[in-house]
Amino acid sequence: QTNEAFQKQLLTWYHKEKRDLPWRQDKTPYHIWISEIMLQQTQVDTVIPYYNRFLNLFPTIADLADANEGKLMKAWEGLGYYSRVRNMQVAANQIQTDFGGVFPNTYEDILSLKGIGPYTAGAIGSIAFDLPKPAIDGNAMRVFSRLFGISADIAKAKNRKIFEKIGEYVISKDYPGDFNQAIMDLGSSYESAKRPNPEGSPVKGFTLATLAGRTDEFPVKSQK
Ligand code: ADE
Repeated sequence: QTNEAFQKQLLTWYHKEKRDLPWRQDKTPYHIWISEIMLQQTQVDTVIPYYNRFLNLFPTIADLADANEGKLMKAWEGLGYYSRVRNMQVAANQIQTDFGGVFPNTYEDILSLKGIGPYTAGAIGSIAFDLPKPAIDGNAMRVFSRLFGISADIAKAKNRKIFEKIGEYVISKDYPGDFNQAIMDLGSSYESAKRPNPEGSPVKGFTLATLAGRTDEFPVKSQK
């Protein structure tokens, strides 16, 4: 009951206020994949023009698999971390050979692709295929820590599993992709790292750190 009320409030806010981003226009797995790889280490505002250009240059998985190396590197110029795009081309060939050219639709198969870890597999699986998998990165850990008063150190990689378990429990089974993206939007607005505004949060009434008057104590994050 409480969890359903929380989901409903979060999703209602998301549907009204979500950021209008090009990868939210359709749920083509290939498109979601490109966006999530670009967003791994690059800010949303920077990614937008790269995302649009990349799709124009390489409209399908087959185009990416067969892409000329120079043209591919040129499309990534300025984004950095070139291993991301090299891995994507390897994965595009994996999709051609192992999955008949069709982007795989199970969590395990998505995770088997080069360059895709648990966070990205959860993001793609939930957004493109409605799989009830959380997408846990540092931002999601911060948000969950504040929502549920979790004091596990978010700087420790081994603690990600704790947040994954909680995410699997609280995620909307009907709208998992929207749920994950609502958590991302919350993490870039009311629950941002630098300038949080928990009093304005659309799920303030469900945010344990706020309810307990302990907004300063979450997340716990040691210096790396
Ligand atoms: N950061 C990573 N994935 C994202 C998404 N789908 N929307 C907004 N920001 C993101």
